[in-house]
Amino acid sequence: MTALQDRFANMALLIDEACALLDARGIVIAANDKMFALLGHQIAEYPMERFIRHEGFVEALRAARDQALVSELTYSRTDKLRREFHLRLAPFEETHVLVVIVDDTDTVSVNRIRSDFVANVSHELRSPLSVLSGFIETLRDGADAEPETRGKFLTIMQSEAERMQRLVDDLLSLSRVEAIEHRTPNDKVDVYTIMQQTVDAFSAQSLAKKMSFQWQLEDALCADELIVLGNADELRQVFQNLIENAIRYGDADSEIELAFSLEDTAPLNLLRVQVINQGPTIDSHDIARLTERFYRVDSGRARQMGGTGLGLAIVKHIINRHRGRLRITSTAGKTSFSVSLRRNI
Ligand SMILES: Nc1ncnc2c1ncn2[C@@H]1O[C@H](COP(=O)(O)OP(=O)(O)OP(=O)(O)O)[C@@H](O)[C@H]1O
Ligand SMILES: [Mg+2]
Repeated sequence: MTALQDRFANMALLIDEACALLDARGIVIAANDKMFALLGHQIAEYPMERFIRHEGFVEALRAARDQALVSELTYSRTDKLRREFHLRLAPFEETHVLVVIVDDTDTVSVNRIRSDFVANVSHELRSPLSVLSGFIETLRDGADAEPETRGKFLTIMQSEAERMQRLVDDLLSLSRVEAIEHRTPNDKVDVYTIMQQTVDAFSAQSLAKKMSFQWQLEDALCADELIVLGNADELRQVFQNLIENAIRYGDADSEIELAFSLEDTAPLNLLRVQVINQGPTIDSHDIARLTERFYRVDSGRARQMGGTGLGLAIVKHIINRHRGRLRITSTAGKTSFSVSLRRNI
């Protein structure tokens, strides 16, 4: 190793990013593990420009070598996933150039998620707000309108106000569970009773769609064994949303299965609770995105049914906090949401 490569190796120890040393011809004469992991071991002894597809790279290299200028370029690569980087080039000793590549993907995607989120919330609030202000205007202009018409308008206004209320409640719940996601709740919770109470609470909705519930307990299980570790209010919220979804999106006149079974894969003792409904099969592409905030498969239809698209995002966060698992499958007209929770044994 030359003295120069030695100096680079020492300096690279201090840098937490991918870095490489290029000679006057732009050939990689040294690099750290991170750089090799990013661009591959084949970069050694080859011109770096072959591995960086960026029109400004050669120019920046020249500026660093000939004019001792530091340059910065933004750069993205797609291997399996698209990743965003920024590249910094600086002169090193007489004729050499140091290249550092910083991975910005997480910052870029956090910023994108944040701005998408704000855009989504604004969009969701805008439509009930414009309906409300439209009706307020109409009522004010026609203060002498028939009581029947006024009543009709007020009913619509109330339902729009309730939609906004639901949205705000869901947003608050989501931020509450997110804030405490790293703390695992450990109370003993009887999920079977929670499910029974939830089914009772939704009996008007299920009756209206002529749906019935079919309970299935795996052979060896008795109801009082169905105790898990967690937080009762949060688990109630999970099953309320799953049962509400099964009723809302399932076929009228069909059955909803509620199945309990054990999933004893050591060292974990889990209880699996499945909510299975009949209805349109969900595409695998949509399944992968269901737990994203505001994601709805048929967004016009789901919105009409009163959904905000936040329910499953809340479910996922609650289950994460419980160190549990959520699995969603949908085949041949049957959709299953399966929740596995730690058992109290
Ligand atoms: N059992 C199901 N069958 C078919 N599609 C479903 C089912 N559950 C959820 N979905 C789809 O997933 C989307 C997201 O569900 P989620 O519970 O997050 O939101 P929502 O029900 O629209 O609103 P919210 O739960 O906030 O009132 C729904 O809009 C619907 O398109
Ligand atoms: Mg829902």
